Amino acid sequence: MKTDNLHTGNCRIAVYPGTFDPITNGHIDIIRRAAPIFQKVYVTIAVNSAKQPLFSLEERLDLVRRSIEGIPGVEVSAFSGLVVDHARQVGATVIIRGLRAISDFEYEFQIALMNRKQYHLVDTVFLMPDERYTYLSSSLVKEIARHGGKVECFVPEFVETAMREKFSKETRE
Ligand code: COA
Repeated sequence: MKTDNLHTGNCRIAVYPGTFDPITNGHIDIIRRAAPIFQKVYVTIAVNSAKQPLFSLEERLDLVRRSIEGIPGVEVSAFSGLVVDHARQVGATVIIRGLRAISDFEYEFQIALMNRKQYHLVDTVFLMPDERYTYLSSSLVKEIARHGGKVECFVPEFVETAMREKFSKETRE
């Protein structure tokens, strides 16, 4: 029988999955909003994302770790395969997703229902980032950085530095 997670206090552990290539201020905004709601939030990096990431898993783990420093109850983890299997492993019954615009909704709705079909105890909680970040995506930030544009209002300084290092290495090769 399905337990009513959201009303039993059984929803205290959450996972926030993504590719995080790289983590941006929009992701950090969602993490800061989620942290006080849950006992523990795992920011969990997809290892087998369909995307070809710019940063290795170790680099992304490091950038996320530095971004969540000082936010209580937040840890970084990584997963391969299905996000619901990782949720089960860490005892999470909530998947956090950011909704930046209405256009995100249809896809998210489908995935949320599919995830719940696979693991009946899991519910998806949608959080809206600050409106400053509604148009942000990791790919856009990378594109701007690759062409020498300004990204300091979109990512922490160390993420900007990491991108610049990657792109200057790319042009040297
Ligand atoms: N601020 C800024 N950018 C944000 C954001 C926010 N709050 N929320 C999302 N984005 C950006 C992301 O950076 C990403 O940008 P990109 O496409 O340029 O890289 C884009 O919006 C899409 O984000 P998201 O939908 O979270 O995709 P993702 O690639 O980061 O993560 C997974 C997708 C890994 C969570 C998902 O594919 C997954 O769970 N895979 C595992 C397999 C699985 O279980 N699938 C479910 C089957 S039902």
